[in-house]
Amino acid sequence: MKIQGNVALITGASRGIGKAIALALAQQGMKRLILVARDRQKLAEVAQEIEAMGTEAVIMTLDLTRATEVNITVAQLWRSHGPINLLVNCAGVAYQTSFLRSKLPQVQEELSVNLLGMYTLTSLIARRMASQKQGTIVNVSSLMGKVAAPTMATYSATKFAILGFTQALRQELAEYNIQVKALLPSLTDTDMVRDLRLFRWVIPMSPQQVAQALIVGLQNDAPEILVGWQSHLAVWCQRLAPWLLELILKIATPPKKQQSEEKPAFFSRINRFCDVLLSRNVTPLLSPRKS
Ligand SMILES: NC(=O)c1ccc[n+]([C@@H]2O[C@H](COP(=O)([O-])OP(=O)(O)OC[C@H]3O[C@@H](n4cnc5c(N)ncnc54)[C@H](OP(=O)(O)O)[C@@H]3O)[C@@H](O)[C@H]2O)c1
Repeated sequence: MKIQGNVALITGASRGIGKAIALALAQQGMKRLILVARDRQKLAEVAQEIEAMGTEAVIMTLDLTRATEVNITVAQLWRSHGPINLLVNCAGVAYQTSFLRSKLPQVQEELSVNLLGMYTLTSLIARRMASQKQGTIVNVSSLMGKVAAPTMATYSATKFAILGFTQALRQELAEYNIQVKALLPSLTDTDMVRDLRLFRWVIPMSPQQVAQALIVGLQNDAPEILVGWQSHLAVWCQRLAPWLLELILKIATPPKKQQSEEKPAFFSRINRFCDVLLSRNVTPLLSPRKS
């Protein structure tokens, strides 16, 4: 895809990966960037950085879970700042919890932002791209959209769904000359992961590395853009030896919270004790002892 001289709309542009993508696209010579998120102040700061690089920036405060507002805003945006050549669906939320303690409002938020928000915006923009017979859509999934991990069941479910959505749209929209791609970052150092208990051994990427991988993927017309060697390794391992990946994930799963934080019931404590015992016994499986 040609980046220079085009117009892009990026959701989640107020911080983290979305912000880094906006800055990287500006650096590549995009003509105009439309930055979408809820925090006006942060969007304004990003816009300032972008304009200093010589790219026009338009900020749009929008809660993607409010379909009617999104509908009205897209119509206005297209009239005054369109046509949009590239849509990057980056906004997302994540909650980490053991599934047995998961809470419906958090799951609903993950579904509303990660899936329904993406659906609403994509359908509005894709229709307009179809009538101009040109466009590129990038949906930000995650390595967890390929490799599900304990404590992230509902987030993983949304990210798997994004890959299915992307794959179907890629085929359906090809006849309108619209390319649809998925970006799959692995653990990235942003606000999203600040409160998460991290998986052992996973080395976080920087948002700038993720943005750079997207630029290369756009230039190479890659349909799925994995970020970093750890992601490639995990996906290959899943293809060739899924049992090994499952074992690694089990060991890498972050330890549960301290008892004082969780106040677990008696059986949960026993359960946890067994988990700890099991995870201690699992390690030697990697280099079996001779009996
Ligand atoms: N960080 C990671 O390790 C990682 C790994 C793989 C994939 N990802 C994916 O990468 C994407 C960006 O994540 P990040 O790490 O950059 O997260 P982040 O730093 O928490 O940023 C999330 C972005 O989404 C926006 N957002 C959240 N809810 C919104 C809503 N209802 N309406 C509009 N905008 C909303 C936020 O803006 P406001 O708060 O201003 O609205 C913010 O700009 C997500 O889709 C995430 O799933 C992240």
